[in-house]
Amino acid sequence: MELLRTQNVSFQYENPEELPLSVLRDVSLTVRRGEFLAVLGHNGSGKSTLAKHFNAMLLPTTGAVWVENLSTADESHWLDIRRTVGMVLQNPDNQLVSTIVEEDVAFGPENLGVEPSEIAVRVNEALRLVDMLDYRDHAVHKLSGGQKQRVAIAGVLAMHPDCLVLDEPTAMLDPKGRREVMDTVRRLNRENGMTVVLITHYMEEAAMADRVLVMEEGEIVREGAPSEVFSQVEQLRAVQLDVPQPTELCYELRRRGVQLPPDVLTVEQAVEALAAEWEGSL
Ligand SMILES: Nc1ncnc2c1ncn2[C@@H]1O[C@H](COP(=O)(O)OP(=O)(O)OP(=O)(O)O)[C@@H](O)[C@H]1O
Ligand SMILES: [Mg+2]
Repeated sequence: MELLRTQNVSFQYENPEELPLSVLRDVSLTVRRGEFLAVLGHNGSGKSTLAKHFNAMLLPTTGAVWVENLSTADESHWLDIRRTVGMVLQNPDNQLVSTIVEEDVAFGPENLGVEPSEIAVRVNEALRLVDMLDYRDHAVHKLSGGQKQRVAIAGVLAMHPDCLVLDEPTAMLDPKGRREVMDTVRRLNRENGMTVVLITHYMEEAAMADRVLVMEEGEIVREGAPSEVFSQVEQLRAVQLDVPQPTELCYELRRRGVQLPPDVLTVEQAVEALAAEWEGSL
């Protein structure tokens, strides 16, 4: 079942002194309930602009966006739409507003007018989901980057969204923080059925998704399962993107005549494929 749909969306930023800048061109996509969709694209390809259309922060110049059949063009739907689609930004410091973890997570539902007793329940639940319950009375500024980003995710979860849109949530984090955040996002999707749209520059993160969209100059130029999209190494390089390292290793070996499948994504799959090839050649 579909949760979100964009239909022929084009968008221009109006610059007073220059010609309008076309950033999205005829973008049509759907996000299905429960799916994990990754959006890839070179810098400036329009990913963040697209994400801002998902919760009515931006409205299309032409075309339309529906969230659960509510059009973002109708201002009376904005509150419902923003409740349905929660946004997590790149820098958790821009998203966190209070000094204490649980106060921060309570901020969103407080603003929605949720009853105090219900807020306490939601804060508990959200902190448990991101595995930060033990830090509920800690100072936000003493947390690591990965912990801060998980608290930011909890703050969005406490508003009970149906869909999480994460715009490069791991870009400012070290490898440990990235792993923590990605484990959390994956768990929310797999175990709690949360619909996830992840914008990322990390191919390994996109490889975890059910489906990948590739954007280039405001258009969707590729779409499919990660194994399909990443098997097209040259096509991705043409839009200045890489593939996951295990995929690249197998691609380079294949070019040297080693018989390996084109759809390897993970280290485990690469090991399997190489072991099978090696045994076959003995
Ligand atoms: N507020 C704005 N006003 C004018 N132009 C903008 C504005 N925000 C973004 N742009 C331009 O729109 C284009 C797309 O930007 P956008 O931020 O959507 O790309 P992106 O794919 O998210 O890039 P990145 O990977 O760097 O985050 C860029 O050329 C950018 O300079
Ligand atoms: Mg961006």
